[in-house]
Amino acid sequence: MGSKREDVRRKHIRLHMEGALTARDKVGVQDFVLLDAYTSESAFLDNLRKRFSENLIYTYIGTLLVSVNPYQELGIYTVSQMELYQGVNFFELPPHVYAIADNAYRMMCSELNNHFILISGESGAGKTEASKKILQYFAVTCPMTESLQIARDRLLLSIPVLEAFGNAKTLRNDNSSRFGKYMDIQFDFQGVPVGGHIISYLIEKSRVVYQNHGERNFHIFYQLLAGGEAERLTSLGLEQDPQLYKYLSQGHCVKETSINDKNNWKTMSNAFSVIDFTAADLENLFGIIASVLHLGNICFEENKHGCATVPDTHEIKWIAKLLGVCPAILLEALTHRKIEAKTEEVICPLPVELSVYARDAMAKAVYGRTFTWLVNKINSSLVNKDFTQKTVIGLLDIYGFEVFDKNGFEQFCINYCNEKLQQLLIERTLKAEQAEYEMEGIEWEPIQYFNNKIICDLVEERHKGIISILDEECIRPGPATDLSFLEKLEEKVGGHAHFQTRKLAGPKGRKRIGWLEFRLLHYAGEVTYCTKGDVEKKKGGFYRHLKEVLCRSKNSILRECFLVAELENWRRPPTVGTQFKNSLSSLLEILISKEPSYIRCIKPNERKEPSKFDDFLIRHQIKYLGLMEHLRVRRAGFAYRRKYEHFLQRYKSLCPDTWPHWHGPPGEGVERLIKYIGYKPEEYKLGKTKIFIRFPRTLFATEDAFEFSKHQLVARIQATYRGCLGRREYVRKRQAATKLEAHWRGALARKEIKRRKWAVQIIRRFIKGFINRGKPLCPDNEEFIVFVRKNYILNLRYHVPKSVLDKSWLRPPGILENASDLLRKMCTRNLVRKYCCGVSAEWKAMMQQKVVTSEIFRGKKEGYAESLNQPFANSRLGEGDINPKVLQLLGSEKIQYSVPVFKYDRKGFKVRQRQLLLTQKAAYVVELAKIKQKIEYSALRGVSTSSLSDGILVLHVFPEDRQQKGDAILQCKHIFEVVTKLAMLAKKEHTVSVVHGSLQFYISPGKEGTIVFETGPEEQVYKDKNGQLTVVSGSTGGRGGGVSDENTGLNSKFISLFYS
Ligand SMILES: Nc1ncnc2c1ncn2[C@@H]1O[C@H](COP(=O)(O)OP(=O)(O)OP(=O)(O)O)[C@@H](O)[C@H]1O
Ligand SMILES: [Mg+2]
Repeated sequence: MGSKREDVRRKHIRLHMEGALTARDKVGVQDFVLLDAYTSESAFLDNLRKRFSENLIYTYIGTLLVSVNPYQELGIYTVSQMELYQGVNFFELPPHVYAIADNAYRMMCSELNNHFILISGESGAGKTEASKKILQYFAVTCPMTESLQIARDRLLLSIPVLEAFGNAKTLRNDNSSRFGKYMDIQFDFQGVPVGGHIISYLIEKSRVVYQNHGERNFHIFYQLLAGGEAERLTSLGLEQDPQLYKYLSQGHCVKETSINDKNNWKTMSNAFSVIDFTAADLENLFGIIASVLHLGNICFEENKHGCATVPDTHEIKWIAKLLGVCPAILLEALTHRKIEAKTEEVICPLPVELSVYARDAMAKAVYGRTFTWLVNKINSSLVNKDFTQKTVIGLLDIYGFEVFDKNGFEQFCINYCNEKLQQLLIERTLKAEQAEYEMEGIEWEPIQYFNNKIICDLVEERHKGIISILDEECIRPGPATDLSFLEKLEEKVGGHAHFQTRKLAGPKGRKRIGWLEFRLLHYAGEVTYCTKGDVEKKKGGFYRHLKEVLCRSKNSILRECFLVAELENWRRPPTVGTQFKNSLSSLLEILISKEPSYIRCIKPNERKEPSKFDDFLIRHQIKYLGLMEHLRVRRAGFAYRRKYEHFLQRYKSLCPDTWPHWHGPPGEGVERLIKYIGYKPEEYKLGKTKIFIRFPRTLFATEDAFEFSKHQLVARIQATYRGCLGRREYVRKRQAATKLEAHWRGALARKEIKRRKWAVQIIRRFIKGFINRGKPLCPDNEEFIVFVRKNYILNLRYHVPKSVLDKSWLRPPGILENASDLLRKMCTRNLVRKYCCGVSAEWKAMMQQKVVTSEIFRGKKEGYAESLNQPFANSRLGEGDINPKVLQLLGSEKIQYSVPVFKYDRKGFKVRQRQLLLTQKAAYVVELAKIKQKIEYSALRGVSTSSLSDGILVLHVFPEDRQQKGDAILQCKHIFEVVTKLAMLAKKEHTVSVVHGSLQFYISPGKEGTIVFETGPEEQVYKDKNGQLTVVSGSTGGRGGGVSDENTGLNSKFISLFYS
């Protein structure tokens, strides 16, 4: 199971490796090492052309970058491109100058060592552009603090200043650097650029006084004239037109469309303000620049003695003013020469030719030394005052190997410099590489390369080298000429395989070498140098007399450049050749201690045209840049080597046996590892301490696989770390929660205790209050009483009677009895009031009737209490129940009340159904359509009922009333209602009597009868044997007719209240 998973993993790694590899090889090969025909220059050229035609200007040879000048903006230097290359594995992205910069930077940061990037190529190949791109890359991608931004800005802004003073338009390049430049960028331990240092080499001073056709002097002169403010120019005695100045117009090219002097002046002026130049510095500096222009315009004439004179001293005066020297002394120094005899100085006039020479020499010296001052000044602004240890990346932008039709001493120096750098390359790569294979015991077929040490020796060897011979010739007393120098060369190095003169060359080569020329067979090709003027130039240098004048100048820059000490030192200063040799060897010392990266720049055509690929020109450059040789070594050797420990450390995660730790010897671990990831035997070799990988692709693939596995590892580490963080956080939170809980519980407990204490006090006070409740109000019971009051009142809220009939009332504590009574009364009154407000007129009328009923019957007649809550009806018969005839008979009399009744005959006591109708005037006993009896109220003597619940009602008439037959004995259900209505209508309330036992009635006038009222088990009405009407009503208990005192009391009370 496990091995199956392993197989899948292995397959995945391999697949990933191959996928990444094919993605890279899109146009040609991105790395010449991958070229099949690696020995063929044509294949090399083809690949370069193929890529160039697709605007792919960069190609690697291993870690060396070949760059072809595109002569057009390609949009590959954007910030997003910079970010793309930042921190990415070197081989992971297409070749780019940023990859070289980033690689050097990463290595510097991780290994804390110093690096340099050597950028070489011929004039116009793009060296300076490349170095600027690298600088910009660092400026954008390196970490930056606000305080260090100044250092970064100064580094960036030093470039336009240096270019203004050190660059010029040449036939080959509109912005050709006419000096070699080595720039150290210093980084602190965090990789932040904190400072820098610039060393300049061999500024082409001759350009100050002479330019070839189509070329210009240094940019600064033109910039000053084009961009300088009018007052400045006036104060410098200058006119805007460069044509007016001899030193500027010899090339017949003062205006160049591709160069915007005015804008460049602005850029440079801004830069000056950032890099610490004071106004005085600038005044002095431009004073010098202007004085050089004035110098060029000095004209000499020959006087009658054949000596030089200056007819127009206008320029001399300006120079004297600008440089702060005495015009007369300056004039004398230009036209005379001091010869030091044993004891005295002799001043002898100069011929015109030598005066011109002195003038030019002065211009060159002044400009050259001012340039050196400028570099030093920039350096002092770039210096980082913090003396902690820094690591550096050096950028060497140095002139490439050059061959012109006529090659002078400067060309000789440039090519010598390139020989030395080639030596460095050989030392650092070719030779070192082969030595390493030997040391590691790797089987290896030595590749043939040309070691140019022999040429370097020819130039620089002490006493025997060309420079030494020239020096000797210059200091030698007696006449020394270029010819004698050439003879000396022939004598001393004539036998050297790389040296030729016309004399030494065979009949074939003779024609191509002039009489004053010698030829060196450089590693890159043959170059013929002209010695004309060499000796004179180096020998004479620049006259002591003029030096004296400049040493006393009031211009502070010049005083710094020309030190009096120099005059006092009578030893001859080292010649230019020796100086250059020395500065070169110190440069090499600087470089040798650093890790190298190489950029080889190629110029695709002579016409500065985009997309033009000149095969011949490029083939030549491939040759002298040593690219084929480099490729051969790269291919023959191994593209990559690494100590076992480091290799294992980096890639151990790719093999389960070596991950996470390998405990055996590192070599064995590496062997296990590469077997696991499937290296083929031809892809690698194992040395004593290192693994050697032959093809870069193997390494890329391993690197890709590592990247892949890194992500997995990172995810695992991240998960573990997050888990750890999570746990830590959880523990922290739990502890915090426990603490919080404890505090919270404590707080709660304290609160509870407080509450209990408070409760105890309250209870105590309560008890005390309770005990003393009977006492008059005092502190002991005051609170209790308030509480009791409040409590009672609050409680009472919920027990207030809701209706007038509700007699309940919350029992008050003893001390509140009076208040309770008052409250109760108020409450009752309120309820009653409310009740009264809600009573209708009809209801009120009925109540008034009920009051009358009460007055008549209360406590007198059985069933009264039960009748109380039965409302009275307006009438017990409907309209339709009364015969219309009766109504007709009644006429206008309105029936106020009607009820069905039983009528008992007065004699036989027979029961008959009748209706009793009450009008405003009389009561009618009606049988269907007949009025059986009409009793006017005035004829009504009284009304009687029994005290029992028998419904009997007797209407008494006056016995003497002859219109009446006798009293009417009626029985009806609604006895209280009927009696009340009748009594009220007849206004005879006081004539109603409630009788006990029996009553007398008139059967007819003068004849009385008796009705006896009894109670019995059964209700019945009958005529007893005495001829009396006996009315038996049901027993009182059964009917609940007993009059309840309480009810009666309440109702009567209520009714009386209502009535009031
Ligand atoms: N990468 C590039 N992209 C676009 N144009 C470039 C590039 N490199 C160089 N050039 C163009 O080529 C011109 C010459 O480049 P540069 O000044 O860098 O050459 P150089 O090698 O420094 O020459 P010299 O030795 O004369 O100083 C630049 O002014 C620019 O126009
Ligand atoms: Mg340049």
